[in-house]
Amino acid sequence: KKILFAASESVPFIKTGGLADVIGSLPKYFDKEEYDVRVVLPKYMCIPENYRSEMEYISHFYMYYNGRNRYVGILKYELNGIPYYFIDNEEYFSGPTPYSDHFYDLEKFGFFSKAVLSILPSIDFQPDIIHCHDWHTGLIPVYLRSLFAADLFYTSMRSIMTIHNLRFQGTWNIEDIKRMTGLPDYLFTPDKLEAYKDANYLKGGIVYADYVTTVSESYVEEVKTPFYGEKLDKLLWARSNNFFGILNGIDYDEFNPADDPALYQNFTVSDFRKKKKKNKTELQKELGLTVDPHMMMIGIVSRMTDQKGFDLIQRVLEELMTDEFQLVVLGTGEWSYEEMFKHFAEKYPCKVSANLFYSEAFSHKIYAACDAFLMPSLFEPCGLSQLIALRYGTVPIVRETGGLKDTVVPYNEYENTGTGFSFRNYNAHEMMKIIRYAESVYYDNRRRWNQLVERGMKQDFSWNVSAKKYEKLYDQLT
Ligand code: ADP
Ligand code: GLC
Repeated sequence: KKILFAASESVPFIKTGGLADVIGSLPKYFDKEEYDVRVVLPKYMCIPENYRSEMEYISHFYMYYNGRNRYVGILKYELNGIPYYFIDNEEYFSGPTPYSDHFYDLEKFGFFSKAVLSILPSIDFQPDIIHCHDWHTGLIPVYLRSLFAADLFYTSMRSIMTIHNLRFQGTWNIEDIKRMTGLPDYLFTPDKLEAYKDANYLKGGIVYADYVTTVSESYVEEVKTPFYGEKLDKLLWARSNNFFGILNGIDYDEFNPADDPALYQNFTVSDFRKKKKKNKTELQKELGLTVDPHMMMIGIVSRMTDQKGFDLIQRVLEELMTDEFQLVVLGTGEWSYEEMFKHFAEKYPCKVSANLFYSEAFSHKIYAACDAFLMPSLFEPCGLSQLIALRYGTVPIVRETGGLKDTVVPYNEYENTGTGFSFRNYNAHEMMKIIRYAESVYYDNRRRWNQLVERGMKQDFSWNVSAKKYEKLYDQLT
């Protein structure tokens, strides 16, 4: 079977969030005898030079889009046996970051979606299934069933729309989108692309894809309700028969504390008790925190947005500063949250370290060094950070929502079970209470704490299970 992944980002080429981790790892885990999986991405100028210079030129042509014929270059790069195709157009993809101004993003991802279908004859690949990810590729199922529908080359293709984050939908006024994309008038009604008077890319994908999936089982149920549904809850409800949750995994080769080159000291589930500490003390030295192997260290690695629960942290951090722990933060995002961590790092230099930048290697150091990992999300389709934390023996403290609920089993002191700590309501004091409970287990019952760590490290959140579920879905569709 032939499968084409279409997405806006993928490691190691370009990453702004978990989507890139998924696109960069899942394709490796399919049975290669059965599934020929390829990936198509935009050729951003901000992809590191070492990859760009090694891409092989395949061909180019001109495609009509937004009023004129536009250059579509096709390049190829093979990685781990997976062919990655890149769509080249300097006008659209030469910015310093993959995303920029909202309308411009809609224009370029409309272009990308049409180009993904248009390049297929040139690369001589006729996929059985096009697997689309997030709003950037929402128009692919729409193009497939409208402008491309009459072409025999495309008629047997099926599509899947995977929602990694329902909050981002790609919306703009109908007239502009119509003109730009060349999509026919009849598509722009409330039962199709229109949502609340605007054109909506993700909605188009949800309506026209043969199957819709999202990245955890709890999120599937949540998004059918108004609170999580981002105004598409009724539509998702209506698609219930073809709407599934398949939990993300992480790449166990890349995230492996036993041989991760970024760590100060490698460790495994059998020797973390001795060896994990070294990661903590070295990081304390590097960051200028008080060096003390017994001090509880809590980590945060995250985009700083409302989604991730930073307003809860903002509300109680000052109060929490009387407690015995260190906080190490890595992330970028909203100004007010960056300022908050800067402020606390200045006021409590021995306790708080604010690292307001992006670094893959440094994130691994934090996952390895910390005792606990804080992720109090307002909503979380899946979340990969807590899975990485578990793998590195760092106990997650999370809110019970979406994928967090599905992957972190709350500690039960009576049964001595669980892999982390969790709280239910979106409430700063509930969060504070659970953080303090975690502190008490850490300081008063280290044996229990270590058992929590051990159970977490033994969980299997590799792609082995979930890739099989996608294979089953592909089989059903073909
Ligand atoms: P989301 O995709 O919503 O941002 P996920 O938990 O699915 O959340 O994935 C986030 C990914 O991005 C994780 O791999 C996390 O380690 C990484 N990440 C987030 N911020 C940073 C940063 N500043 N530096 C390095 N990695 C980061
Ligand atoms: C999104 C979600 C996150 C998920 C990731 C990968 O960015 O916010 O929860 O893990 O996509 O699917």
